[in-house]
Amino acid sequence: MKNFGPAILLVILFIGSAHSQSIKSSLNPTFDSKVDSILRLMTLDEKVGQMNQYNGFWEVTGPVPQEGDAAVKYAQLRKGLVGSMLNVTGVENVRAVQKIAVEDTRLGIPLIIGYDVVHGYKTISPIPLAEAASWDLEAIRKSAEVAAEEAAAAGINWTFAPMVDISRDARWGRVMEGAGEDPFLGSRIAYARVKGFQGDDLKAVNTIAATAKHFAGYGFSESGRDYNSVDVGTSTLYNDILPPFEAALEADVKTFMNSFNLLNGIPATGSSFLQREILKEKWGFKGFMVSDWGSIGEMIPHGFAKDGMQAAELAANAGSDMDMESRLYVEHLTALVQSGKVKESVIDDAVRRILTVKYELGLFDDPYKYCDEDREKTVTGRQDFQDAVLDMAKKSVVLLKNEKQLLPLRKSGMKIALIGQLAGDKDSPLGSWRALGEPNSAVSVLEGMNAFPGNSLEYVEGVKFTEGTPGFAFETKINTTDRSGFEAAKNAARNADVVVMVLGEHGFQSGEGRSRTELGLPGLQQELLEEVYKVNPNIVLVLMNGRPLIIDWAVEKIPGILVGWHLGTQSGNALAQVLYGDYNPSGKLPMSFPKNVGQIPVYYNYKATGRPTNPGSDLVFWSHYMDSPNEPMYPFGYGLSYASFDYSNLKLSSDGFAKDGSITVSIDLKNTGSVTGKETVQLYIRDLFASVVRPVRELKDFQQVELKAGESKTLSFQITEKSIGFYNNDGKWIVEHGDFKVFVGGSSQASLEKDFKFLEK
Ligand code: BGC
Repeated sequence: MKNFGPAILLVILFIGSAHSQSIKSSLNPTFDSKVDSILRLMTLDEKVGQMNQYNGFWEVTGPVPQEGDAAVKYAQLRKGLVGSMLNVTGVENVRAVQKIAVEDTRLGIPLIIGYDVVHGYKTISPIPLAEAASWDLEAIRKSAEVAAEEAAAAGINWTFAPMVDISRDARWGRVMEGAGEDPFLGSRIAYARVKGFQGDDLKAVNTIAATAKHFAGYGFSESGRDYNSVDVGTSTLYNDILPPFEAALEADVKTFMNSFNLLNGIPATGSSFLQREILKEKWGFKGFMVSDWGSIGEMIPHGFAKDGMQAAELAANAGSDMDMESRLYVEHLTALVQSGKVKESVIDDAVRRILTVKYELGLFDDPYKYCDEDREKTVTGRQDFQDAVLDMAKKSVVLLKNEKQLLPLRKSGMKIALIGQLAGDKDSPLGSWRALGEPNSAVSVLEGMNAFPGNSLEYVEGVKFTEGTPGFAFETKINTTDRSGFEAAKNAARNADVVVMVLGEHGFQSGEGRSRTELGLPGLQQELLEEVYKVNPNIVLVLMNGRPLIIDWAVEKIPGILVGWHLGTQSGNALAQVLYGDYNPSGKLPMSFPKNVGQIPVYYNYKATGRPTNPGSDLVFWSHYMDSPNEPMYPFGYGLSYASFDYSNLKLSSDGFAKDGSITVSIDLKNTGSVTGKETVQLYIRDLFASVVRPVRELKDFQQVELKAGESKTLSFQITEKSIGFYNNDGKWIVEHGDFKVFVGGSSQASLEKDFKFLEK
């Protein structure tokens, strides 16, 4: 414990009877020195307390807990030994805990209140992977803004989002939470989301601090099994995993969260390479790092720390500033400082970071600024939020296939059979990170389609693919035996002009802890699809999914396929409007859809092998499978429209450029269809020879453009050094001279290409 001189002791005793008002008046004018002034008033225990985050631990507005775990935590809160709480929601509850921190503790330092506001708070927007499919950065930013405003009105001032983990493995359930497989798109989206949550003024009452998570590598868990080890080379780490985190930092993200996984044998939580060397030193991050839930303690089962004491030491020294719920900091850090294993300067640095974010949020000016009951009432569920999440949901839908002109559906004179448990499901569209979204509060596809009354619509479940109510626990069983609904489904299909089948995953089948080894339609849904097809092949398949699914049979047989993800509160309205053509689908896949599980990881920006093809030979010695093509079913960037687009006239302003120069790439795009449509024009490059081999294609830019039927436009892009540079294996950004290709088109398989050079002079 630090030895306080008598003068300082006196200050402490004086402040001891006061609350944050006293702190406010004792502060120096400049921001940093304000934080330092508080730091000087704090005991070591109080500093350690700021680094301790607890889950909401008792019925906060109920009686004070007298015994057990809740009582211990409550007592610590009153002693100023808790710096943050998570999962305390609603103004009444937040006010209750804040009141204790501010009015009962010696220094009255306010809590920062965290929550997983991942895609909405009560008004739920599409899952992040779906939003990524929109490639619409404005809409994505808006969706985060809505979430922030609604959460902030309910007392929350910090979200554990965005998750910016790149992943190439659809088995990993958390792909639903990210932006897919590509570091460029992922970076643009990371930036948009952080800006959306934090706004331009963090002190405003409708913005909250964001978290870039999970630092780092979590999306590369071996075999797609959640929490599993990650072993990646430096090329992948620097060029694929880290860029979205850096983009979040460029957007001024205030906090980072580390991750559960080992990265090359070292737990991310205990990695000073990640947290100190890269994040805080190289990138100059000034905010704080929160651990993932219990991840400090998990370093023990990992085999990295022998006990809780050592785990706390390793995590603190490695730069984990706040302990989410392992409780090891509050238990051991004071002793670790006293024994010299952790320097007090490490603690000071962490606390300075935490206090700074609290300041930036304005909590020292008014700890109750997020606690306004009236605002909570008027803001929650506001109509403009509904409009924004509907807009986001429509933009997230991806049209994979549209043969026989089945889509859009005519608005009158048709008999439509709507089949599938998910078509009537008001819960699954909320997804598995639904924050406080009310159970069963989404608009179902059935309800959405009923808003178009011109056709006759018959709804049949066909099969209940789940038995029991889906939720966080494992009880939800998938029905593999009861086919009793098949006949009714077939009868409805037989009498219909068009059959719309909504099949896929229930809302808790993807998400944290939901890794899967089979990615077909769960339960008896595939069988139902095949049976219905026998009686009426005019089927539009609407997938409801939290990740890429394996739909090889459907792709071969079913004429219309839409990816409908878990689209949130307005899901059914969005899907109905797309089905009926009131919104022309414009989404593009942010993640490849594999043909089969054996191909995974399958992604567009792979590196070429030394044996990429077998021109003219029937020998097997080239890099391929004997039983499957190498290519995915649908590649990254793919998605159709009810319009069609023709790309032509790819031109470069010159065939080379040198340092500080650029090339303008132009392309003519024509809407050759009969309706207005929006296209996402994508530009990829390939660095043909490099000192570290580069991917066969890399997305480097994109633009969205809406064209009327028959309309054409010339679009242009710039290629600069930024487009062609990369990180070498030491993590150094380099730009190499040489030969490149540029490709422009509507997916990662864009076929128009040109060569260019980066010249020495
Ligand atoms: C997840 C984090 C989340 C935290 C708090 C953990 O299990 O990995 O992403 O923010 O829980 O809910």
